[in-house]
Amino acid sequence: WKKPLYLYQGFWYIAFQLEGVIFAQQNFQTQPGDIFLCSFPKSGTTWLKALAFAIVTRNRFDPSSNPLLTKQPHDCVPFLEMDYFENPAISGPGGLSLWATHIPYASLPKSITDSSCKIVYICRDPKDVFVSLWHYLNKLRADKFEGTPIERAFELYCNGSSLYGPQWDHVLGYWKASLERPNQVLFIQYEDMKKDSIFHLKKLAEFIGYPLSLEEESEGRVQKIIELCSFENLSNLEVNKTGKRTHREVEGGKMDNNAYFRKGEIGDWKNLLTSEMGEKLDNITEKKLSGSGLTFS
Ligand code: A3P
Repeated sequence: WKKPLYLYQGFWYIAFQLEGVIFAQQNFQTQPGDIFLCSFPKSGTTWLKALAFAIVTRNRFDPSSNPLLTKQPHDCVPFLEMDYFENPAISGPGGLSLWATHIPYASLPKSITDSSCKIVYICRDPKDVFVSLWHYLNKLRADKFEGTPIERAFELYCNGSSLYGPQWDHVLGYWKASLERPNQVLFIQYEDMKKDSIFHLKKLAEFIGYPLSLEEESEGRVQKIIELCSFENLSNLEVNKTGKRTHREVEGGKMDNNAYFRKGEIGDWKNLLTSEMGEKLDNITEKKLSGSGLTFS
């Protein structure tokens, strides 16, 4: 990424995101019932958005007409620091109260942290996040940006100089909040969600106030939501294969929806990073998270 990064309240941003963060801090007013889906980029944001949207709308739409079948998940759940900045009157389809954001916990608008609104954070192993980010930025770069060698990008990432980085501080902010305010902040790991989707989906639904009833469970609703939001299903929908969405930073102002769906696997870092690079990231992670009780296993 050749754009300059700016340090604000301990985290790095490119200009248009920083503008959005400050705008949200100054203007965003939380409404009762709002739900915030938070993440570090490339940690499973698109998936979490789809799951939360599918849970909340399951009784509003017939399964064959859920907006997730025709709209990109990012168009179902607006981004606080991007979409709200562009259009403060924005809301998701049907006026839903779901918001997504990459803003670190300590920089969230006070109206969110002072409220009792639910916050869900998804995090992912830094090795897979870096690799996912690398591929994603290359995709953007194909349109506009000149290349940075992977070694340099890796070094910057390790030093925390990446979009919304350092990742470890981002994760720890929400992790600590989830320990201090467990009724407000739910912390989920991408890997756990992949390994036991049923358990985590039910937990998510209950936490955000849309629990699945026993009747719904016996009708197989949990499984249906998981299938609707699965990587295989979403990535093969026409809207996500060939559609585009507005993105200020790419040429022509449009981004291919398929940039958000690559492999969706655990451990894909091995196909790009050397074992030394993997070890280096693991060592940083161990050091940074030491004593917090959080691990990536
Ligand atoms: P990979 O690049 O490793 O494939 P984000 O949504 O935060 O931008 O993260 C993108 C990552 O999540 C990409 O990872 C993408 O493939 C993966 N992803 C997108 N949709 C997913 C889904 N439904 N299930 C699991 N992973 C998904």
